[in-house]
Amino acid sequence: MKPATAAAWQPLAASAGSLRGIHLRELFAADDRRFANFSTRWEGWLLDYSKQRVDAKALSLLCDLWQAADLPGWIARMRGGEAINHTERRAALHIALRHPAGKGPIMHGGHDVMPAVHAELEKMRRFCGEVHGRYWRGATGEPISDVVNIGIGGSDLGPRMATQALMAFRHPALRVHYVANLDGADLATTLATLQPRTTLFVIASKTFTTQETMQNAASARAWLVQALGEVAVARHFVAVSTNLGEVARFGIDPANAFAFWDWVGGRYSLWSAIGLPLALAIGVDNFEKLLAGAHAMDEHFFTALPQANLPGLLALLEVWNTNFLGADTRALLPYSQSLGLLPRYLQQLEMESNGKPVDRQGEPLDCAVAPVLWGEAGTNGQHAFYQLIHQGHRLIPCEFIACREADFDLPGHQAKLLANCFAQSEALMRGKTLGETTTELLAGGMAADEAARLAPFRSFPGNQPSTTLLLPRLDPFNLGALLALYEHKVFAESVIWDINPFDQWGVEYGKQLAGRLLPIIEGKAPAAGLDRSTAGLIAYCRQ
Ligand code: F6P
Repeated sequence: MKPATAAAWQPLAASAGSLRGIHLRELFAADDRRFANFSTRWEGWLLDYSKQRVDAKALSLLCDLWQAADLPGWIARMRGGEAINHTERRAALHIALRHPAGKGPIMHGGHDVMPAVHAELEKMRRFCGEVHGRYWRGATGEPISDVVNIGIGGSDLGPRMATQALMAFRHPALRVHYVANLDGADLATTLATLQPRTTLFVIASKTFTTQETMQNAASARAWLVQALGEVAVARHFVAVSTNLGEVARFGIDPANAFAFWDWVGGRYSLWSAIGLPLALAIGVDNFEKLLAGAHAMDEHFFTALPQANLPGLLALLEVWNTNFLGADTRALLPYSQSLGLLPRYLQQLEMESNGKPVDRQGEPLDCAVAPVLWGEAGTNGQHAFYQLIHQGHRLIPCEFIACREADFDLPGHQAKLLANCFAQSEALMRGKTLGETTTELLAGGMAADEAARLAPFRSFPGNQPSTTLLLPRLDPFNLGALLALYEHKVFAESVIWDINPFDQWGVEYGKQLAGRLLPIIEGKAPAAGLDRSTAGLIAYCRQ
């Protein structure tokens, strides 16, 4: 059923129409209990969505979408290992990667996947123990001081983001670096700070064929071999992949290869051995706390009613803003330096998953999907793009994330950080009318004509919707839960929009064309059949 023709859709459109002329200030003025009515708590978290442009009726209609789209049925299909990624005929069982031992089987193709999942986790534990305990030695007998993860997309963004997010939990004796870009500047500048004798490379690629990763891996190998010889490869390279044949062909000892499975999508793979560099950075005990947090969020998503379901509420509010208020963008604003890479990570999770042109039947969509996600850590963003959010006359729903306790508690910082976060959501909600601005300027001693001249520049429309998510602190458990929250939000949206969030054909198309252009740029194939622009660009580079 196409979403926009579903019975639940029309009343929502009517509700949006009647709310259109009502300012958020009025919604707060009309309901003393608005904060209590439009906020929810879970495991010490607080989700405040009272500054969203919804009322009780709209919220209740949004919750009806949950049943109308059969979210419970789709959750059961995911948990049951069905091939819900139907264009690739694959299950999406990332939830198994954080399913605790002893809590029952998770079935895929007639087999329980849990023994293999826990065996791989155990292998990670042993390996991290050897590296941290300095038993794992490089070719010259020295212990490892630096780990370089080479991967891209899901084989990079998750562990990279989480390593930064959990800097406060970092193992003191090991530095972990990430290289993703095909541009040699990424690898070259990383290697410039390292010694081959004490460097370990993790080559992370689900397919082990991705051009960027294979090129960077080959260059890293050449760097190592030049310094220490071929024999050093076994002690300085490990791999994480579903393609263990290619890993062996690259020359990595199968004993040093960590496996995962085709039922783990790239952007959902942090919880698998793709998390190895993170586990090296923070230790396997902390990595397991991350898994425990994600599992706790899984259970919450599977069981909570939509009006108390954190991923569900975020999904429903996204649908509301996108499909009924007309937003085509969302700003993600973590007031946490440690979560600075979260917007980039979520760009892949949200836009690669839900940026789709057709529904599950292959028919063109009848509604907008996946707003453009962007953002930056507060307060830095305040001094960059917030001006446009305040006065640029675009509807930009904002999502603030902050922690009650600082992870790096320097005196005087945390209260100011929180004050800025809350001030922004307040300002975006309230705005400041022309009259209020004029009164304020006059009260400050400004002459009446000057106040009248400046007031239009210094007034703000407000009514900009926002959500604020507060966590008690940023630790492995809460980070795991936060990332699982977004995974399930994306899934819930995909169900409502009736799209497959687990494939990424747009990315594959770019890879295919790059493969065709490479021999032309290298002068190994004629520049035939190219459009004039592409031919002109290549001709310039070949001069
Ligand atoms: O970006 C497209 C993609 O296929 C992602 O889904 C994946 O995370 C990334 O490429 C890297 O792929 P691989 O892990 O196979 O190298």
